[in-house]
Amino acid sequence: MIELQINGQALRVSPGTSVAAALYLAGDGSSRTSVNGQRRAPLCGMGICQECRVTIDGQRRLACQTSCSAGMQVETQP
Ligand code: FES
Repeated sequence: MIELQINGQALRVSPGTSVAAALYLAGDGSSRTSVNGQRRAPLCGMGICQECRVTIDGQRRLACQTSCSAGMQVETQP
């Protein structure tokens, strides 16, 4: 198991788990808030829709295209 942080909360996942899957394991799976105030979550799972944008270690990344790694800091958009 590897441990990462999602919005400051520790989460342990199996190696190879995508950050998108980790978002669901950590809570409601949401990744960001739309300009209309609606919560958004990973939709396509293959890098097309861009709904899974999160900040990982200070850089904007797609959660569905990123595997979790030890010590990773993931922040969703409030
Ligand atoms: S879920 Fe669509 S780009 Fe990541």
